[in-house]
Amino acid sequence: MEGVTLGPVLFTAEAIAARVRAVAEQINRDYLSREDPGKDVVLVSVLKGGFIFLADLVRCLEIPVVVDFLAISGYGDRGTSEGVRILKDLSEGIGGKDVLVVEDIVDTGLTLSYILRNLEARGPDSLRVCTFLDRAVKRIVPVEVRYRCFEVGEDFVVGYGLDYNQKWRNLPQVHLLRGR
Ligand code: XMP
Ligand code: MG
Repeated sequence: MEGVTLGPVLFTAEAIAARVRAVAEQINRDYLSREDPGKDVVLVSVLKGGFIFLADLVRCLEIPVVVDFLAISGYGDRGTSEGVRILKDLSEGIGGKDVLVVEDIVDTGLTLSYILRNLEARGPDSLRVCTFLDRAVKRIVPVEVRYRCFEVGEDFVVGYGLDYNQKWRNLPQVHLLRGR
């Protein structure tokens, strides 16, 4: 932990804004071509990491959306999703709704697969995933990621909502870490 400092910028604020806009356009197109384009889409943001991406994404969406939040406990160190718990549940039901889970990063997929199983059991009409970062090289559990802004490699990243020991979430760009 000692000696970990910010490394080089991986994605600038400008590059992020451009990708967020492009992904939002994709989402607009897809959801506007639904049978009922006027139906609310429930964006489920997974706290804490997803809050900045959510804030930027919703402002580029032209479909009717409502926003809800979910917080879950981590599962310690990798392996299974045993011990994952919901710390803060959604405030509204999602039965019959079109649900889009908004994540900061999908890494092993353990967190997300737990979330998807849990939400699926509530009977949504549709359930898709939009992630800011996708680290597919580390995937343990296969999960379908419909929308992604960037692919990343194995190196830990911070900024734009992502933290190292709760720090650096506020950075407008994504950095690699040095000394980790
Ligand atoms: P899984 O492995 O369940 O993990 O897909 C997803 C969660 O792990 C955290 N995570 C990171 N957080 N920089 C971070 O700040 C990273 O490089 C990183 N990789 C994984 C994150 O909380 C994510 O939701
Ligand atoms: Mg997260």
